[in-house]
Amino acid sequence: MRRSDRRQSGTLIALPPYEQKDPMAKSAPSFRCSECGATHAKWSGRCEACGAWNSIVEESPLSKVPGSGLGGAKGKLIQLSALDTKEAPPKRALAGMPELDRVLGGGLVAASAILVGGDPGIGKSTLLLQAAAAFARTGLKTLYISGEEAASQVRMRAARLGLADAPVGLGAETSLRDILTTLEAERPDLVVIDSIQTMWSDRVESAPGSVSQLRAAAHELVSFAKRRGTAVILVGHVTKDGQIAGPRVIEHMVDTVLYFEGERGHQFRILRAVKNRFGPASEIGVFEMTGAGLAEVANPSALFLSERGQAAPGSAVFAGIEGTRPVLTEIQALVAPSSLASPRRTVVGLDSGRISTILAVLESRCGIPFTGLDVFLNVAGGMKVIEPAADLAAAAALLSAREDTALPADMVIFGEISLSGALRPVGQAENRLKEAAKLGFSQAIAPTGTKTDGTTGMSMRKLGDLVTFTGEMFGAG
Ligand code: TYD
Ligand code: MG
Repeated sequence: MRRSDRRQSGTLIALPPYEQKDPMAKSAPSFRCSECGATHAKWSGRCEACGAWNSIVEESPLSKVPGSGLGGAKGKLIQLSALDTKEAPPKRALAGMPELDRVLGGGLVAASAILVGGDPGIGKSTLLLQAAAAFARTGLKTLYISGEEAASQVRMRAARLGLADAPVGLGAETSLRDILTTLEAERPDLVVIDSIQTMWSDRVESAPGSVSQLRAAAHELVSFAKRRGTAVILVGHVTKDGQIAGPRVIEHMVDTVLYFEGERGHQFRILRAVKNRFGPASEIGVFEMTGAGLAEVANPSALFLSERGQAAPGSAVFAGIEGTRPVLTEIQALVAPSSLASPRRTVVGLDSGRISTILAVLESRCGIPFTGLDVFLNVAGGMKVIEPAADLAAAAALLSAREDTALPADMVIFGEISLSGALRPVGQAENRLKEAAKLGFSQAIAPTGTKTDGTTGMSMRKLGDLVTFTGEMFGAG
């Protein structure tokens, strides 16, 4: 039946008289996933939207949040302006910590709201205490509100980090009402809230740590930032068990979202901008956790390659770009006969879906099977690489491990692999090559069509597809 036919034969269904209810005013309990924020009509052990277990919590309606709903009152006209209205660029303050300033998009913007997320124990409090002290020392009026640690604990940490003399106002409090009253009285330039999940508003009935509390607290603090021109930094714990709501729920409310990541066993920490209304996203800052707090790493490539010894099978150096900066990393692969019916595919620091694709392309386009072989792949130093430009370096590491042949130690590799096995050029080739040349590399492999001007003095080999690459490098395929 065609759609027009159906429309002709339809009749209006009879509806009983009904009234449109304000959805905010309903009083029935609702259930929300604390990981992804999806709402559900009833509780269940697993969220159907994101698949997380034990993450669904009951929440009370949002009607108590100020400013929600019209309530029948008449609004006033908002002021409209032209798009080309001249306005000064936002005022920025530099902390004097280059790694942090760059991730913020070139300094801290007044009246901005920033979320810093990360696993518990990764170093968020340490980073933000150092940042608060750095900003305070440049003359910004700075407050640090801890909801997790007692003031004495924070003071002890400050002393250990050599920051005790920084003019930071320290408070240990979790009541949002008291914090906002203090902020109204103090009117600081910057306030750090550590962490947003410990804050509770007496206007919302649900328990501290719930989605409603998290939203209400973030909403009030972000409104304060916009109203008074204070920059607000919110710390958010990433949680796996769903006992407290995760920071994803408030990502949309803030201007900038930074994630602080790193492997537990490694001392390197990466601050990554995943959203920034005032600068490029995907920018990273690299830090090292030392006995005296976080030290900035000005040259991450040198650090990530520092553990590399002699040329060994299974190692390939990828010339990558993180935000606006080139970063070289070593991709390591191990391929071994498997005793399992379905061999292992263990991938750390790279997208495992992409690695499966590369393995499939190697098998069906180049005739190099990995069946019956366990595959382990990781990025040295605990770095995460999300660029598709890493495809060719990952393939090179896999092949090098499988063929037990080392790649030349002075070679960098970059390029994207398409499903057909063709190599696709990637952006910023010159920047990648310059960084590689600076670190002493002298040859590079890149896809045909890569734009280079030859000023780096690197010896370039440009290849059109993966079959040519495997043939040239390993005589396979
Ligand atoms: P912390 O900043 O408390 O983490 P978060 O706020 O993200 O939960 O950092 C906790 C870890 O950092 C802890 O395991 C100890 C380590 N650490 C150092 O190694 N050096 C230091 O100078 C400090 C202050 C902490
Ligand atoms: Mg902390």
